[in-house]
Amino acid sequence: MRYYIITGASRGIGAGIVRALLQPGNMIFALARNENPDLLKAAQAAGSELSFHRVDLSESAAIEPLLSELFGRMDLQRAEGVYLVNNAGVLSPIGPLETHSLEEDEFHLRVNLLAPMRLTAGFIGRSQKFQGRKVVANISSGAAQRAYFGWSSYCSGKAAVEMFTRVAGLEQQQADWPVVVYAIAPGIVDTEMQDKIRRTDDTQFRDKPKFIRYHEKGYLASPEDAGRALAKTLDDPEIRTGDVLDIRDY
Ligand SMILES: NC(=O)c1ccc[n+]([C@@H]2O[C@H](COP(=O)([O-])OP(=O)(O)OC[C@H]3O[C@@H](n4cnc5c(N)ncnc54)[C@H](OP(=O)(O)O)[C@@H]3O)[C@@H](O)[C@H]2O)c1
Repeated sequence: MRYYIITGASRGIGAGIVRALLQPGNMIFALARNENPDLLKAAQAAGSELSFHRVDLSESAAIEPLLSELFGRMDLQRAEGVYLVNNAGVLSPIGPLETHSLEEDEFHLRVNLLAPMRLTAGFIGRSQKFQGRKVVANISSGAAQRAYFGWSSYCSGKAAVEMFTRVAGLEQQQADWPVVVYAIAPGIVDTEMQDKIRRTDDTQFRDKPKFIRYHEKGYLASPEDAGRALAKTLDDPEIRTGDVLDIRDY
């Protein structure tokens, strides 16, 4: 059995990753605030085990008990592999830094940074003795490396995700049975997040016309294609722990 914990699995890229993993022998734990009934039906048809676990990842204290519950449902003695994909993410608050409230920035960083950090920490701790394949994929963004007007929270959160990935990777190089921890930017994908970008007030986000052009020219990947490409990287033997990658380089 291969076990997968996928966050932000209710729609968009996360749902695309889950769809790509629906096959017998895979047990998938899908985390989000909402369920996706279509995915549950598709899992049944594919003979794959999929369960939704409702969680608001801004509630940091909920993460440890949830991880304990999920690892309690795994039989690591007989497992081939265990995987975590930190995909859940938000874009707001959008607008110049001084317009953000403390609560907005706190919410953002709890979801986009603290949740992936704590999930990765809990995953590494709980799988230390497991000698099969262990992978943590952190979904990053081009915004981790490029400053965008109005996206101070988003750019900083993603940049920090890439840095904690590099540090965790460095640490895992010393482990007896290392976890492959890597970050990967998914390209531009046709999801609710992109829709939100195109509806943002231009004065809050100056690059909006560029994103409208990408959409008009058909540059956006579908969540299904992006999910397939990202799912493929989970077993890529070329990826080393600590790597920071972009799916467009594949
Ligand atoms: N789309 C792109 O072009 C693009 C480009 C670069 C990077 N990314 C990154 O790719 C990832 C997925 O983005 P997407 O475009 O698929 O976004 P999306 O369509 O908005 O989906 C976001 C997912 O995250 C979940 N989520 C949001 N807040 C949550 C919370 N508080 N607790 C638990 N789950 C939460 C949502 O589920 P619920 O609402 O059900 O909780 C949903 O499943 C994000 O990390 C994003 O930054 C996307």
